[in-house]
Amino acid sequence: MGLRPLGAEPIFVADDRAGAELALRAHLFDTRRAEVLAVLPAGEEPAVELAAFVSEHVAGALDTAFHPLEAAARLVQEDLTIVRPAPQGHVLVAGAVCFPSGWYLREKLGRPLMGVHDPIEGYAEEIGARVERFFERLEPDRPFRRRNWFLYDDPSLFQPWDPTNEVVVTAANAGQRVFIRSEREVMLRLSGTGAIVFTIRTQQVRLASLRTRPDVAAAMASYLRESPEAVHRLKGVAPYLAEVLSALDEMAA
Ligand code: HEM
Repeated sequence: MGLRPLGAEPIFVADDRAGAELALRAHLFDTRRAEVLAVLPAGEEPAVELAAFVSEHVAGALDTAFHPLEAAARLVQEDLTIVRPAPQGHVLVAGAVCFPSGWYLREKLGRPLMGVHDPIEGYAEEIGARVERFFERLEPDRPFRRRNWFLYDDPSLFQPWDPTNEVVVTAANAGQRVFIRSEREVMLRLSGTGAIVFTIRTQQVRLASLRTRPDVAAAMASYLRESPEAVHRLKGVAPYLAEVLSALDEMAA
């Protein structure tokens, strides 16, 4: 599952893109609120608790003109989701998600995590039950984290649709045209309502940035070579796998 304790690392990480990303988040909430904010009745109380938690953590004031979850998500570069236990498993009850990687918040809202992960091959058989157990046991004040990565040819942060692959990726331009898009995800239990918060921080760099890390380029190339096509599709690299492999080999050499 790739989980490890967060330890002393911060839950929310501000970087030099904060200004631009917070402006983009505000714009998305203003112009496409129905796509980026969704809260079920079961999410209302935890949303209030989460908003106070975020505000305290980043020492930012909540704008009371907005729903508490939106107000919180306007303060940080992280997307915020809330899950709660129900008879059918842990259910996604609220989300403020401005930077989705190929999924629609409204399609997932109200679904148990097994259903949320429907398109992920192997999830139900291999990790679904373990994820449920992990969330059952998660203790307040002991957050965990995981990280994933994709290889997208479109650096749009708001990207609920699947990659359109409109860019022509060649071995020569892959370093510039392909982006390593990675989510730093933190899971924590709120102490009051007991709801679980799952934060998603989307970060991206050009593939060419691996020029300074030949070891990582080599590891990524062998991972891709050993993986089945389902993984290539999940990572977004299927349409330009050969071109990316050739660029990675060059950087690894
Ligand atoms: C321990 C917890 C979890 C594990 C191990 C896990 C695992 C995964 C994996 C393996 C993927 C495929 C992409 C990737 O590698 O990240 C994925 C995608 C995804 N996960 Fe999770 N997940 C967890 C928790 C959650 C939670 C709490 C949510 C609630 C919002 C969530 C929502 C999603 C969504 C929306 C996708 C994209 C699905 C799609 O493309 O349609 N995950 N997850």
